Amino acid sequence: MFTWGVATSSYQIEGAASEGGRGPSIWDTFSRVPGAIINGDNGDVACDHYHRYEEDLDLIKWLGVNAYRFSMAWPRVMPQGTGAINQTGIDFYDRLIDGALERGITPWPTLYHWDLPQALQDNGGWNNRECSFWFAEYAHNMAEKFGDRIKNWTTLNEPFCSAWLGYLHGVMAPGIKDLQTAINASHHLLLGHGLAANAIRDVAKDLRVGIVLNLTPAIALRDSSEDKAAALLADGFDNRWFADPVFKGSYPSDVVDGFGKEVPIHSGDMATISTPLDFLGINFYTRQTVTADNTSQPLPYKPVMVEGLERTAMGWEVHPQSLTDIIMRVHRDYSPAEIYITENGSAWDDSIENGAINDKSRVSYLERHLDATFAAQSQGAPVKGYFAWSLMDNFEWAYGYGKRFGIVHVNYATQKRTPKSSAHYYRERIKNS
Ligand code: FCB
Repeated sequence: MFTWGVATSSYQIEGAASEGGRGPSIWDTFSRVPGAIINGDNGDVACDHYHRYEEDLDLIKWLGVNAYRFSMAWPRVMPQGTGAINQTGIDFYDRLIDGALERGITPWPTLYHWDLPQALQDNGGWNNRECSFWFAEYAHNMAEKFGDRIKNWTTLNEPFCSAWLGYLHGVMAPGIKDLQTAINASHHLLLGHGLAANAIRDVAKDLRVGIVLNLTPAIALRDSSEDKAAALLADGFDNRWFADPVFKGSYPSDVVDGFGKEVPIHSGDMATISTPLDFLGINFYTRQTVTADNTSQPLPYKPVMVEGLERTAMGWEVHPQSLTDIIMRVHRDYSPAEIYITENGSAWDDSIENGAINDKSRVSYLERHLDATFAAQSQGAPVKGYFAWSLMDNFEWAYGYGKRFGIVHVNYATQKRTPKSSAHYYRERIKNS
């Protein structure tokens, strides 16, 4: 059976940031930094999903999907990140998981969708090698608590964003801007992934484990050797830096050379990181066009905004063919046992007319990307599922509440949920599949 799903993440929807014994996360801290988040928004309330999860599960059931990808908030279940477990946090996920199962929906949790307990950041966060082991401890605990009902476990969501956006560009939590720290963080995230995969399987042999990578094809602006080299490096930085270690047990040497820094690899790390997986989750949104630029850091290329292309409200190019291409490329280069599109979606400036949101652009994006997904499947890639990002509008990280990715509209003043045309489209498409 094809897995049809919707996706969300804890900090983006839960709210209840200081309720039920939840400890602070790096996003609670980062969202307080003046200027870090557009409009000074934060996830204190978000979609208030912590209190409204029953209604949200009903919506998910109404959509007709058979799976729900959400994330567990590490600081909700282990407020200090390590050691004590917070039973009230466990109880919340127990209710959520049971509520999903009662409705015939398979829960697909991600263990780490960026909300690191602040207490661990105070000890260096992912720059500290210990963090990989704290993550494995947390993963083990979750598998013990929920492994009787959850079979599919995702370790990390988009380590690219955690490492490069959080520790190199500083535009996401924890807001650090240092290449060596970012390289350390990327390695410790991947090591944490491998250790967590083993920890989960230690709990029960039948638990399935995967990782979610955001993959972004890079194309050269001009047909020149400089720009082609730029596109190759961009692909290395975005895609191969994470996929190569996981599937081949090594970092791409062109990027290592380009960085000119040491990766803090200890003996045995690469074998741990490349522990065979049951599935790969791909998050796909766009492709990027790049050109050579010797003044750019940390690698000599930069992205270019080509005029006249179809773009979402994020400014991201709409290019469905790239989704087919990246799936086929992953199938060819890395041959994961199973591939799931774990996120795909688009932000638009929605307008409400007579209580309805006729989001034609999102419908069109969704339709074309579903077609692109099934095109890869019919060309032989083991595509087993698709999760729309996102179930509902939510806290879009540094963009705050201004960017809406939901197929369901959220009125943040009243918390009213209204399915957009895209939700109706998705529902029909699933029904007719
Ligand atoms: C991805 C994130 C997700 C959401 C979408 C738009 O990078 O995984 O949380 O913000 O982008």
